[in-house]
Amino acid sequence: MVADGPVWAVVVAAGSGERYGAPKQYERLGDRRVLDWSLAAARSVADGVVLVVSPGRGADPEPGADAVVVGGDTRSESVRAGLSAVPDDAAIVVVHDAARPVATPALFAAVVAAVRSGADGALPGVPVVDTVKRHADGVVVETLDRAALVAVQTPQAFRAAALRSAHAAGGEATDDGALVESAGGRVVVVPGEPANVKLTTPADLDRLAASL
Ligand code: C5P
Repeated sequence: MVADGPVWAVVVAAGSGERYGAPKQYERLGDRRVLDWSLAAARSVADGVVLVVSPGRGADPEPGADAVVVGGDTRSESVRAGLSAVPDDAAIVVVHDAARPVATPALFAAVVAAVRSGADGALPGVPVVDTVKRHADGVVVETLDRAALVAVQTPQAFRAAALRSAHAAGGEATDDGALVESAGGRVVVVPGEPANVKLTTPADLDRLAASL
């Protein structure tokens, strides 16, 4: 029964920070590192937490994690590495980007609650404020209806079996929701948090510090 089983979290921190210019998840934010905030928020809902780190770092123990594993070349590979360290009896798995350090415990609780209520997956979405167009080689092909669009964040929670089977084929996507959706799962949207930005450029660090 999903409602009764353990919750595990996989926090992915194996990115190289190419766009940022350094491994951004190890930057200082307030009195700790970016990834420490993410681990602590994940811990608020999880019975166990797996941290996925880059190969260069080695899988040394981390105080906020029950297990540390080495990730892969892509985010999806890193999630699969994390999943392999999640115990078989986990009922729900929450996947979170270490680079989103200000996601609140309430947001983690909301995605877990949606899965406990019967969804295969739940992810936070915030309304899109800009007009969004699809283009091909710089020529506009279509203007999308922004009322039907959300910008998606992590944490994303899933029925453990749904996430494992969606990843079993080794697919690639920029989030886990996409893999579960393509496998036919019912993934629901919960209200996201505008402050929950992904640390992408050094300027984001100031914004994140201001929202702590
Ligand atoms: O690259 P991007 O900002 O989309 O990364 C989102 C999250 O996925 C980050 O926390 C990053 O550390 C993680 N990641 C990973 N393994 C990769 C690439 C990204 O764990 N190969």
